[in-house]
This record gives sequence, structure tokens and C-alpha cells, in this order.
Amino acid sequence: MSAELDEQQNATVGMTVGMIEVLILQPFNYAKNMVQQQRTISLNPMIMYRGVGANCINMGSCTMIQFAVGGKLKSMVSNQEGNDPNKPLTLGQEMSCGIVAGTMSAVVGSPLELIMIQQQRKGGGVPTRLGDIMQNPVNITRGFVGAAIREALWTCGYLSIPPVVRRTLMESYPDTFDTNDKARVPAALLGGLFACYLTHPFDTIKTCMQGDIEREVYGNFFQTARKISSDSGLRGFYRGATFRYGRMNPFKLFLPRLNLSLSLFSNCSAVFLMDLMREKIGRLMYPQAFTD
Ligand SMILES: *[C@@H]1O[C@H](CO)[C@@H](O)[C@H](O)[C@H]1NC(C)=O
Ligand SMILES: *[C@@H]1O[C@H](CO)[C@@H](O)[C@H](O)[C@H]1NC(C)=O
Repeated sequence: MSAELDEQQNATVGMTVGMIEVLILQPFNYAKNMVQQQRTISLNPMIMYRGVGANCINMGSCTMIQFAVGGKLKSMVSNQEGNDPNKPLTLGQEMSCGIVAGTMSAVVGSPLELIMIQQQRKGGGVPTRLGDIMQNPVNITRGFVGAAIREALWTCGYLSIPPVVRRTLMESYPDTFDTNDKARVPAALLGGLFACYLTHPFDTIKTCMQGDIEREVYGNFFQTARKISSDSGLRGFYRGATFRYGRMNPFKLFLPRLNLSLSLFSNCSAVFLMDLMREKIGRLMYPQAFTD
């Protein structure tokens, strides 16, 4: 890739990729949230797709913020005085940018997820649920800490780690990884591992808190973590992991004991797809920016 997209274009591509993902994967997201809360899953599409509007705006705006803020921060770091602007960022610099961008996106994302999860539990449209939540305005922040930590780690996983791993592989093993596309798979695998396994516990805490806005079962962040841990131990934090962002592993249903490598594989495929889609859709939307 010789030419690069500007921030605006990066944001638009990010938003498009995020929305496509939500429309396809909403039923999995619903199933994940129900399992995390230990509630029964309905197979009625009308229920599975509850909250899809809020989730679309959520995904679109979060991804847009992550891309835009992440891109801006990265260019600020690489243009810093004393830095060679042509030198790629270090892993530490990439990750710091990802963490800040991810946390900022949760400011918008967490309330939207709260609305969606309330819709999934109780039905009704966005205005109804938002009106309910806002009876006590502080409740809009419910689940924010979990969402912020999850987004920070997730942004690192898909935004910061794959490019660094890709570049390292291409530099260290130029014979094996002679193109960007070849290095993409292992890069996505690593990013995916990082993103999925570290973020899921925070997602579970967040979902339990947001589903129970009345605080009947789950209290604050730490009380919720303690409750999950005393109910189901460490496994409790990985409730619903199979469904995470649609990374549903069909083999798991048939081969419960053989599922580690398979689930690693399927968990990584979403990060891989995001990374690939980002570039392909970028090329589609802005062909003039990619004159090789
Ligand atoms: C847009 O995204 C690409 C790919 O991640 C990145 O290399 C580029 O620096 C970004 N552009 C800006 C202006 O942030
Ligand atoms: C808002 O949170 C309080 C606890 O701080 C809770 O008692 C109340 O039920 C919540 N409001 C709504 C509308 O869920």
C-alpha cells in the first residue's frame, strides 16, 4: 500500500466495517449477552434482533472514534519532534494509542450498549428504554468501567498488534512472509488471542451489570466480579465466549473436548476479517488513495 487514507477516510471505512459486522452478527451478540446473564436464549428473530439499531450506532460510532482517534494519535506520535516520521511506531507506542482510543470510544459505546441490553431483556424501542434509564440519570453510566477496559484491550488487539506483528514477520522472515497478505493470518491470530481472551471477563461483568440496572443481583464493578466468581469460578467470566461477536464455533457442538485449537481459530477469524475488510473496503471506497 503506497498511498494512505486520511483520518476522515479511515473513520468512514471503520464505521462501514463496524455496521456490516453488527447486522450480520446481532443474533450471536444477543445469545452471548443472554448466556452471560444466565438467561434463556430465544430463537425468535424478532427477539434476537432487539436493540440492533442501538448496536449499529454503537458499533459504527465506536469504530469511527477508535479509527479516528487512534489514527490521529499515531500520526501525532510519529510526527513528534526528534522522531523520524518514516520510522514505524514501536509496539508500546501502537498499544498506547490503541488504549486511549478504545477508552474514549467507551464513553459513547457504553450507554448505547446499556440501551441495547435493556431492550434485549425488556423489549421496547430506544426512546422507551432510554426514558426508563434516565429516570435516574446516573444509571446511564452503568457498566462503563467494564466497557472502557474491554474497548481499550480490544482496540489494541485489532488496531495495534496486527500491523506490528505483520511488519516484524515480514522483516524477520522475508522469504516466508513476502507479502502483506501472507503475514496477515498469523498477525490476526495473535491480535485475536489477545483481544478475545483478555477482554471477555470485562465484557461479562459489564453485561451482567447492564442487564441488572435495578441492582437486584449485581452491584458495582467489584461486587459483580465477586458474584460471578462465587457463582461459577473463573469459568463464569468466560460465559458466552463461544458467541462473542459471532465467533461461534460450530465444531464445539460436536467435539466439546477438542475445542481449544478450534475455538482459538474461530475466535481469531473475526479479528482477521476486520483487518482484511478494513483494507478491502478502504480500497473500494477510496480507490484513488491506493495507487500502487
Ligand atoms: C489510516 O489508517 C492506516 C491503516 O491503519 C494508517 O496507516 C494511516 O496512518 C491512517 N491515516 C491517518 C491519517 O491516520
Ligand atoms: C437506577 O439505579 C438505582 C440504584 O442506584 C436503582 O435502584 C434504580 O432501580 C435504577 N433505575 C432504573 C430506572 O432502573
